[in-house]
Amino acid sequence: KRPAGAPNAKLAREVTKVGVVGAGLMASQLALLFARQLKVPVVMTDVDQARVDKGVGHVHAEVDKLLDKGRISRDAANRTKALVSGSVSKAEFADADFVIEAVFEELSVKKQVLAEVEAVVKPECILATNTSSLSVTAMAEDLAHPERVVGFHFFNPVAVMPLIEIVRAPATDDAVLATAFVLAKALKKTAVLVKDAAAFVVNRVLLRLMGEVTAAFDEGTPAEVADNALAPMGLPMTPFVLAEMVGLPVAQHVAESLHAAFGDRFHVSANQQALIDAGVKGLWGTGPDGRREIRPEALAVLS
Ligand code: 3HC
Repeated sequence: KRPAGAPNAKLAREVTKVGVVGAGLMASQLALLFARQLKVPVVMTDVDQARVDKGVGHVHAEVDKLLDKGRISRDAANRTKALVSGSVSKAEFADADFVIEAVFEELSVKKQVLAEVEAVVKPECILATNTSSLSVTAMAEDLAHPERVVGFHFFNPVAVMPLIEIVRAPATDDAVLATAFVLAKALKKTAVLVKDAAAFVVNRVLLRLMGEVTAAFDEGTPAEVADNALAPMGLPMTPFVLAEMVGLPVAQHVAESLHAAFGDRFHVSANQQALIDAGVKGLWGTGPDGRREIRPEALAVLS
């Protein structure tokens, strides 16, 4: 059955090589998924060789974990590793059919990156963005061919989370959208078409939850009480464990985008900003007795 809003799959273009802009945590998870499920070459780029090497190293380490768990054969592990390469040059995207960017969540940065990619790719190459909160329309508007841009938003951890939010901007071509849906299926994900509105759907729901927890600790409820209050609700992770996995700066950035778009419906936490400014990665650590406890560096900021 065709997913709601998906054009006829016959319009989809073939994808025989994928480019990933960025080699950070999200980008390397994407590179692994594309290589493993599509079995096509995937090239990751970043601004310097050290970042590129780290990203490729992360993919190899994740493949080794799958191998250790017996989830893939040694042959498949070797093939997957061989499919993933890295470069500091976007010229490597010249023969790619689908390039997805997963760089810093800042509109000007994403626009610049997409313009640089457009300058080197073939005319029919699709440009996707993994943005979690920014306008796909705004990202595409200054390109020569905005019709080739589509939002393709994954969730952390990419290997496990089943959803992709596909975002159609007004200019997005039917063939581009059809390819996005066909790719999502090949990646064994469930795709939903969402409007190009700030933070789409899932992050809006998540950020309401996060916002109430951070508002509680901005109002003086101890952080561990506020975060643990939701544990009996059947969530797989408490909000702050989730925020640490996503990265506190990313969570804060999404909150800021939503506050800008919807005002006080979304809370931007001063305490969370203070944690970020102090370089604290999350709330929870492990105490000397092995039990979960608030990290001393988080306590120092919050008390
Ligand atoms: N990478 C790869 N695989 C992972 C992983 C990771 N980071 N974390 C867990 N897994 C795998 C495990 O290896 C395990 O696989 P296996 O069955 O083959 O061994 C499987 O997932 C289940 O893991 P666990 O048994 O260790 O742990 P849980 O049962 O607690 O599940 C979880 C882990 C799936 C991450 C679960 O805690 C969960 O669903 N958490 C909520 C995640 C969520 O809400 N994500 C959305 C974040 S928002 C976002 O990303 C949007 C962005 O725009 C900001």
